[in-house]
Amino acid sequence: MPGTCVIGLQWGDEAKGKLVDLLTEQHDVVVRYQGGANAGHTVVSGGQTWKLSLIPSGILRDGVTCVVTGGVVLDPASVIREMDGLESRGVRIGDKLLLSDRAHVVFPWHVTEDRLLDGIVSGGEAIGTTGRGIGPCYRDKVGRSLAVRLGDLFRPDFRERVAHVAEVKNRLFAGWGASIPPLDPAAIHAEYAAHAERLRPHVGDTTSFLLDAVEEGKRLLFEGAQGSLLDIDHGTFPYVTSSNSSGVGVASGSGVPGRWVERVIGVVKAYSTRVGGGPLPTEQVNAVGEHLRERGREYGTVTMRPRRCGWFDAVAARYTTRLSGVDELAVMLLDVLSGLDEVRICSAYEIDGRRTTRFPSHIDDLKRAVPVYETLPGWSDDLSGVRGYGDLPVRARAYLDRIGDLLGRPVSIVSVGPDRAQTIIRHASPGSTATPWPRPPHPTAANA
Ligand code: IMP
Repeated sequence: MPGTCVIGLQWGDEAKGKLVDLLTEQHDVVVRYQGGANAGHTVVSGGQTWKLSLIPSGILRDGVTCVVTGGVVLDPASVIREMDGLESRGVRIGDKLLLSDRAHVVFPWHVTEDRLLDGIVSGGEAIGTTGRGIGPCYRDKVGRSLAVRLGDLFRPDFRERVAHVAEVKNRLFAGWGASIPPLDPAAIHAEYAAHAERLRPHVGDTTSFLLDAVEEGKRLLFEGAQGSLLDIDHGTFPYVTSSNSSGVGVASGSGVPGRWVERVIGVVKAYSTRVGGGPLPTEQVNAVGEHLRERGREYGTVTMRPRRCGWFDAVAARYTTRLSGVDELAVMLLDVLSGLDEVRICSAYEIDGRRTTRFPSHIDDLKRAVPVYETLPGWSDDLSGVRGYGDLPVRARAYLDRIGDLLGRPVSIVSVGPDRAQTIIRHASPGSTATPWPRPPHPTAANA
């Protein structure tokens, strides 16, 4: 069976882009299936840095088709900006990029709504969205009556559709007492019609394309955006994004049934980060947090916001390992921990004096969770040049092994720097797409 998934197990920014880039050479198609231009990933290759948001990093390789499916919300201007940026640096896009006609389109009214409403959350703290209109676009998708899909941009009634939605949105904004200039439907229509012409050669039915591809035995690589803890249904609601960013979203977002997925790689950073609002139980607002932020260059790719940083949270990551159906783990940014006297892993929470390894389903309980830490000795070695697992310092290996034990899956990939070359792959023969590890046992009450 041909599918591999790369899924973030924390709050996003796990450096999945680098891994997707590495795995791309073993695949024919790379699939982005949820989220939108809220995600950002940086790929460093051959001394060049690429910052991409919606277009999969597979676009950097020849012979790979990149597919953006109907589960994604798509801002045409942002896609075109990315295409221009790539082409200006010599990357040929041609027929390598397919965009689903089912993808919902982000309009200026979504961005306005995102900015107007983000501060108003029951409970006080803002979600701290990326301000890209993602939530409002998904809200209109679910609401249906004001939604516009990419395929609609090519229909004869597109102008009327924009006029209708803009009129309704203007009434809504006025009702909210927002002092903003009214939306100009003619200008919006003209802008989006021009975008549509530019994107036309890339737009089509990606669901059928992908179903044909799997049935023909093509190898698919599914690239999750954000992290499992930001999943709309299973994450730290309401401090989440608006799509299924955990492994459960692969089938619904892409239209490819889960039975085609052979290998799920769960990606974690060697520590925790979060950008935006919501609890981060292991957050370190101190010298450790500063170390992680500065060494890990923990500033948002999309918004440049400093990320909140803390110790590795094995309670949270074990939950998402199971939720996302992970077979094996990739631990990224291990080099960032070098130079700390000791390293800590949160292996349980105490909530109201009771110890638990279950990740709470309600945000109020998570807010009260006090991490219980295991402390391991740190290491000072520079890991950036290490290429073999056995060449890692014993203490770094002990740290990785403990993460694997707590999450119940083997650590098969370790990253020690941003470049493709700075990656340690354990036991996998080069070019092999098969997991080097036996699949985890079928879950039972005892091992779940
Ligand atoms: P939205 O996706 O812009 O609605 O933002 C909702 C929450 O998800 C906010 O806390 C964002 O900071 C967070 N978020 C969205 N995309 C990413 C990402 O790619 N990495 C990390 N956090 C993200």
